[in-house]
Amino acid sequence: MKQEREKFSGRLALLAAFAGSAIGLGNIWRFPYMAGENGGAAFIVIYLLCSLLVALPIFFTESLLGRSSGKGMVSTIKTFFNGKAGRKWCGLLIVAPLLITSFYSVVGGWALDYFIRACTGVFGRISKEEAVAFFGEYSSSVFEPIISHIIFLTITAAIVARGLKKGIEKFNNITVPMLFVLILTIVGYSCSLPGAVDGINYLLKPDFGKITPGALASAMGQSFFSLSLGVGTILVFSSYMRKDESIVTAGFFTVIFDTVFAILAGFAIIPAVFSAGIEANAGPSLVFETLPYIFASMGDVSPILSYLVPILFFLSILGAAITSEISMLEVLVEYFVEEKHLSRRKATFLCFGVCVAIGIICSLSFGPLSWIQIRGNNIFGLLDKVSSNLLMILGSLLFAVVVGWKMDRNKVRSELTNEGTNKVSVKLFPLLYFWVRYIVPVMLVLIFITNIFN
Ligand code: ALA
Repeated sequence: MKQEREKFSGRLALLAAFAGSAIGLGNIWRFPYMAGENGGAAFIVIYLLCSLLVALPIFFTESLLGRSSGKGMVSTIKTFFNGKAGRKWCGLLIVAPLLITSFYSVVGGWALDYFIRACTGVFGRISKEEAVAFFGEYSSSVFEPIISHIIFLTITAAIVARGLKKGIEKFNNITVPMLFVLILTIVGYSCSLPGAVDGINYLLKPDFGKITPGALASAMGQSFFSLSLGVGTILVFSSYMRKDESIVTAGFFTVIFDTVFAILAGFAIIPAVFSAGIEANAGPSLVFETLPYIFASMGDVSPILSYLVPILFFLSILGAAITSEISMLEVLVEYFVEEKHLSRRKATFLCFGVCVAIGIICSLSFGPLSWIQIRGNNIFGLLDKVSSNLLMILGSLLFAVVVGWKMDRNKVRSELTNEGTNKVSVKLFPLLYFWVRYIVPVMLVLIFITNIFN
């Protein structure tokens, strides 16, 4: 007998899952730097516009696809294609979550390692040169990052294997609120440091002169990555959504939580960077090279805080990385359970094995395999760019086209408005439908073409 699909136990659990999927490494290591570089508050305004005008409508399409079908990504999309060949191609949709889950867990492993190191107090006495040299040596070494990557994936897989309510929901319900408490604590500390006010001004001062087409493309890409769109996470989580929940409300709240967290991460990091009087770099170097040194330099003011703050900081990165990783691994596991009829445990084990293998290659691409360079990227960088800049956009385009052109309009309306009972979405529906049908696909094609040429 077919088991009934599990559902989230309530609205908070659902929102924690969406927020957990959205809040991740992207919020902490990319957003603060991007905001700083691209006009501070002006970038935040542009980012919000991109999230509301393009990313949020995609969120709605993904979500309504999942909730209406009550199935996973591949099974849902397959129903819109008639031919056998077309349906077979749908299996390729799992490539993007597979790649992201794999390379993401390498960085998750670094966060785990840095968290453990922070607990030993090593960051209380590291110099700037030592912090940079340490990260270079660490990330290019063979064993340690691979072991951490495997442990990180093991933790994630253990949660996913327990299922929706006993695993995913339980973990997110505790971790997501904890992430906000942690980041707020760090914001409070960072903003009270001497000289932090310059960092606060840097983030708050709107400089619209810096809003170039490049900044716009960055804002757009960031909003897609941050909301985990186009890879099925929203679709699969929505398939566990009860019919009385509102897709529109859930989408708005997810964007709000995600953006607020990203801005808080900016205020946790940039004022501390300014206080230490150094340049902020993007990506791994900001989090893993610059910040350990900044924490150490706080030791002159308060040794206890310079011990505690790195622990809290790396714990927040680790927690945020796990909640996002869970949502991507769930897309893969769900696929093998539904399409290949494996048990959840077997499916998780299989996905774990494949992601460990791909992740090992990504990890080695910082060391022994760094000679493999494709258009200036190592394997890790290539997978990151291909999945974030191309596959996520293509996936989103597919969802928008399916909802706008292949799904029955009445069905779309009924899902988005909860059968006409949600008054706000009833009013919004004609505009939203037009937007998803015509505007969003054109924007996505333009972003895709821009990214190819970049
Ligand atoms: N949404 C996840 C992040 O921002 C993937 O890191």
